[in-house]
This record gives sequence, structure tokens and C-alpha cells, in this order.
Amino acid sequence: MMFVKLSQLLLLLLVVSGAIGLENGLARTPPMGWLSWERFRCTTDCMQFPDECISDKLFRDMADALASEGYADVGYEYVIIDDCWLAYNRDADGKLQPDASRFPHGMLDLSNYIHSKGLKFGLYEDYGTNTCAGFPGIIGHMEDDANTFASWGVDYVKLDGCYAQLHDMDIGYPAFGDYLNRTGRPMVYSCSWPVYQEFNGIKPDYEAIIKTCNLWRNYGDIQDSWDDILSIIDYYASKQDEIIPHAGPGHWNDPDMLIIGNFGLSKDQSKAQMAMWSVMASPLIMSNDLRNIDPEFKAILQNKKVIAVNQDPLGIQGRRVYQNNNVEVWTRPVMPVQNNQSSYAVVVLSRRTDGTPFKISVLLELLGLTNPAGYAFEELFDGVTHGELLPTDDFEVRVNPTG
Ligand SMILES: *[C@@H]1O[C@H](CO)[C@@H](O)[C@H](O)[C@H]1NC(C)=O
Ligand SMILES: *[C@@H]1O[C@H](CO)[C@@H](O)[C@H](O)[C@H]1NC(C)=O
Repeated sequence: MMFVKLSQLLLLLLVVSGAIGLENGLARTPPMGWLSWERFRCTTDCMQFPDECISDKLFRDMADALASEGYADVGYEYVIIDDCWLAYNRDADGKLQPDASRFPHGMLDLSNYIHSKGLKFGLYEDYGTNTCAGFPGIIGHMEDDANTFASWGVDYVKLDGCYAQLHDMDIGYPAFGDYLNRTGRPMVYSCSWPVYQEFNGIKPDYEAIIKTCNLWRNYGDIQDSWDDILSIIDYYASKQDEIIPHAGPGHWNDPDMLIIGNFGLSKDQSKAQMAMWSVMASPLIMSNDLRNIDPEFKAILQNKKVIAVNQDPLGIQGRRVYQNNNVEVWTRPVMPVQNNQSSYAVVVLSRRTDGTPFKISVLLELLGLTNPAGYAFEELFDGVTHGELLPTDDFEVRVNPTG
């Protein structure tokens, strides 16, 4: 199985400058929170599944758990409703309205509840004529819908791209962003714009995307499996030269939700997702059942040192720097910076499935860790320190099998 191991800390290294993107003051580090889609999908039968259906109760339960179970204390803050919250029709005035039986108190009341817990409120819509599940989309109503979101106290908007013209997105996503801005209410803007274009052979205009969106999906929806995690990691590795330069404070690539604590991942695979999402400067948006999570998974999700890598203020997305024997190494420059040399977070990821922990040994300088003053190492999941190494020393670790 899988594996992961390590993130290392270091002393010393380099400074970097970011691309110029949307400046609405939000998402200066990757957003953290909880989103319903991967775990709860479009479950609407509240008679049969009262604890799982997309309803007022589900989001209050999750807000309660974020606040009372330690998640909010380590940075998880947005409670985000995905598809299937809407009624099938707009109201008599053309306004969006939630399904009345599943959200009987309305969206403002739910928003107020989430805010009362010290958390923030996120809501899904779709740029096209319909959401992916068939509810009303925003086309033709963009200004009204931006105002409706602001009036409900929305802090984060996820705008999907089903039932939309792919080329229109280049105009529509920025237009809706302008309407959001004009409401005067700061709202994180999460766009699905590039993934729909990419999957249909259109090269996304990332220069425009980073000026419009705080985060954006590049690749398909995450599923509850290790194979799917690997396919996402492969996508970001294969496109890293194109994708990485667009990430920075205020604007992030989004490889989709954390699925730790669900059905598909072992403990080592869960550490691997947490480590990889942190080294990739990815939003940490969980989709799981926070009311029912084994302590070992909760500890992975709440590991403060790993989260600190994710939230590193330099905002540089990490990259794959080494592959050998089905083991790969990713590095990300992080604080502290001394003498113009950054520290690094390092992830060693194993795809090997043969029985015992596998030893890899590689010269530090081959990983790009070239500071002549050397580096002090700490394993972040366990908090174990490992002494100091020079660039001409071998970096040696054992990683658990994954599959
Ligand atoms: C609107 O855009 C301006 C210019 O980028 C920015 O300074 C301001 O913070 C934005 N306001 C909101 C509410 O997003
Ligand atoms: C710091 O490092 C960068 C990148 O290697 C280099 O371009 C820059 O000149 C260095 N600055 C100083 C003050 O050494």
C-alpha cells in the first residue's frame, strides 16, 4: 500500500515571487473547510437517509463538528454546500430558492448559524443553464444571483460548468466575478472553468483565470479510491511546468477534496493524500462524515505541522523532482528563509506494492537541496528529528508499501 512518509523541514533557502492574480484579499493561503459532494453527493431522500441527505441538518451537523472537534482550531473554516440544495424552479420573482422541505429555514438562517460558530458559509452554483444535477443555473440571472448570494451572507462560491458553452466561459466566469465583486461582500470564488475546457481539448487561459478566481479545478472529480488519488497526482506531475507558476497567495490550483476518513483509503494512503495536498499547496477541503471518523484519520487531518506546510506563506506549489523504482520525491520551498535560501517540505511517495518498507537513498543535491550550509530534518507526521545533512550527503528513508 501506500505510503508516504515524510515531509521534512529544513533550514535555509530561496525566495520566490508569484504571478499577479485576483486581489480580493481572500485565500492568501489555500482555503480550508468542508464540502458535501464527494461523501454525500446528491442524496435528497431525507425520509430514508435523514443523516445523509443534502439538508439544513447536514450542514449544521458539520458546522457543529468543525467547531467542537478541533477542526476549526487548526484552520478548517468554510462549510460549503455543493449541488442539490436548490428547488427545481426559481421563485415568482426569478430568485433562486432552496428546496423548501430540505432547507425549511432558508439559506440566511443556515448562514447565520454557521457564522455563529465562527465559521464561514460556502454555496454552489453553475455557470450554465443548469447545475450538473439539473437544478437552475445562473446564466441569464448573473447579477441577481450574485446579489442573492451576498444577501444570504455567502463567503465562498463554487461555480461549476455543466450545461454551458465552453468558449463562453472565458467571458462568463469573469462577468460573474465582477458581479460578486460589485456586491461589496468578499466571497472566495472557486471556478471549474479550466477543467471543462481542458477535458474538451481547449487550452485554458490561465492568465485570465488567475485574475478572476481564487481557486480553480484543473482535473476531474475525486472519487473514493487510492487509484483516483494517484491519477490526480499523475495529472499534476505531468502538467507541473504549465500549472505550478499560476499558484500563489490569492489564487490556487485545486485538485479537489480530501477524502480521508471515508471508505477508500488506508491509514498510510490517508497520510499520503494529506502530505501530497500540502506539498501541492492545494485547498484542504474535506468531504467526509465529521460526525463519525476514526481517531487515527482525524489526527492526520488535524496534523498542525503538515497543515503549516500547506499554509506556508511563500505560497509556492511543490513539484515532483525525482522518480526511481516506483518511488517518487516531491519538494516544496517553504519558510523559514535564511541567507536567501528557503527550507523545503519533502514528500516521499511510494507506489510499490511489494511487502516490506522500501529503502530509498538519493543525494540531497539531486533533489534540488543545494544549500551549502546544509539542512536539519524533521519527519512531520511523527515530529521526529533526524539530524543534519549536506547537499553531498545521501538522503535515506524507508517508505511503506501502498497497495
Ligand atoms: C473588488 O475588486 C477590487 C479591485 O480588484 C478589490 O480591491 C476589492 O477588494 C474587491 N472587492 C470585493 C468585495 O471583492
Ligand atoms: C537570491 O536567490 C535568487 C534565486 O537564486 C537570485 O536570483 C538572487 O539574486 C539572490 N539574491 C541575493 C541577494 O543573493
